[in-house]
Amino acid sequence: MDSKQIREKYIKFFVERGHKVIAAAKLVPENDSSTLFTSSGMQPLVPYLLGQAHPSGKRLVDSQPSFRAEDIEEVGDSRHTTYFEMLGNWSLGDYFKKEQLPWIWEFLTQELKLPKEKLYVTVFEGGNGVPKDIESFEIWKSLGVLEEHILFHGVSENWWSRSGAPDKMPAGEIGGPDSEVFYDFGNNNLLEIGNSVFIEYQKQDDGSLKELAQKNVDFGGGLERITAAVVSSPDVFQTDIYEPLLKKIEEVTGVKYADGKDKMQVIADHLRAAEALIADGVIPSNKLQGYVLRRLLRRSAVKLHLLNPKADLSSIASEKIVKDEIEKFGKTLDRGLKEIEKINQIDGKAAFDLYQTFGFPYEVTEELFRQKGQEINREQFREEFEKHKELSRTASSGMFKGGLADQSEIVTKYHTATHLLHQALRDVLGSQVFQKGSNITSERLRFDFSFDRKMTDEEIKQVEDLVNKKIAEDLKVERKIVSLEEAKKMGAIGLFYEKYKDKVMVYAIGNYSKEICGGPHVSRTGVIGRIKITKEEAISSGIRRIRAQIVLK
Ligand code: SER
Repeated sequence: MDSKQIREKYIKFFVERGHKVIAAAKLVPENDSSTLFTSSGMQPLVPYLLGQAHPSGKRLVDSQPSFRAEDIEEVGDSRHTTYFEMLGNWSLGDYFKKEQLPWIWEFLTQELKLPKEKLYVTVFEGGNGVPKDIESFEIWKSLGVLEEHILFHGVSENWWSRSGAPDKMPAGEIGGPDSEVFYDFGNNNLLEIGNSVFIEYQKQDDGSLKELAQKNVDFGGGLERITAAVVSSPDVFQTDIYEPLLKKIEEVTGVKYADGKDKMQVIADHLRAAEALIADGVIPSNKLQGYVLRRLLRRSAVKLHLLNPKADLSSIASEKIVKDEIEKFGKTLDRGLKEIEKINQIDGKAAFDLYQTFGFPYEVTEELFRQKGQEINREQFREEFEKHKELSRTASSGMFKGGLADQSEIVTKYHTATHLLHQALRDVLGSQVFQKGSNITSERLRFDFSFDRKMTDEEIKQVEDLVNKKIAEDLKVERKIVSLEEAKKMGAIGLFYEKYKDKVMVYAIGNYSKEICGGPHVSRTGVIGRIKITKEEAISSGIRRIRAQIVLK
């Protein structure tokens, strides 16, 4: 059985149990400014786990490509990857433990034929005011899981939220106790292959956990790891998923996998991740997602160079953007590494020079020196960076970890204000205006749109006044679930037509604006207050960017 068959079996298994297949979200989240990447299957589903109706119903199944930038430096062993495919099934306030655990057990032991002697499960032992999960324990036992294979753990192991244990969760985040399944490769080598999270709590402002109105199931299992278990390979890289790539790396370097494992694992993971990010529209740059992509490619180039200085990474990659980026870096890589040899004691300034002159991402330099037992002062690096008027927001902001889709009141107001702004721009400038991007924080909204010249002061004022007029009219915001056809007929605007197969959610603001969107939004525009456009600028040819803030009346 290969990974493709495993994915098909999983989807089929849950479809037969009433689940609807949903399309995977993009790796760059579309409605969540709190994080750079989609890092789990639940992330795009947060509004629905919180109670909003999902167009496809209450039982969902999918395979979600996920990327965890915070794990970049973990890669280089047999089990870690930054990029993986997460098989997921969800109950949005529908079934719960007594369906979920037997199904997962049946899938693993009957469909995939994993022997129960090799499977271990963990159960929440209680903590932070949440009781011990006796129910899951009883269910596992009744399924015939060996009793000594059922282990209890506390919040550090058997609690899942985007941010980790309950005390790490910011207000508003959701999570709950979970029950994991591990596969035993022998000699104490256990690998987690799936996790059923019972999402039933939300962190409150006062730090307490409150039960959600609905009890949800969020199962996630890494396809790479499940495949490793099925083929009994303790190394996830030695599966059909990576083998073709590893073979190419062996050819290009002339080094056998067994002799260069850690470096080859990095290259294989990072190239696979890079190609997926590029497919979702990311291009190498010095900012945000683009910077992470650049880091992946340059880190791979360094590892390849260490395996064989003559090997050419661009000959492994099939993607033009990868080839171009590597070629650019290749010109300075060798000289940069020689320069590094000469440095006795690295400091922030030298790290900046390596970045500036040779294109070494800070983190790559940091890793190379860490291997020599030297740490760099990141503050110093940053100061140099600022001096040069280039701000790498990724390098300097803590966005990797991220939160959940921000559901706070202020962000919700900004979401609705963005719809009004979109429509107002079309009214004032013409219907060639279309959303090209949007990013919201609790401090401002940022909106990118197609338009081929600078807006005049008069136009900016007209747009601002029009949005404020619509706010003052206190229009009702209504949500409808309709087919894509109907949405188009209604004249709803929306960026992401192609993503939706079945039904879509449309938000209508009075008779003024209709837009395809997952929300969340305020229920009446009046609560927004007033907006002020603070900036209008070009970001690339034909694309303008507006920043606006909600201000006091
Ligand atoms: N949300 C859980 C995880 O990411 C299970 O899907 O592990």
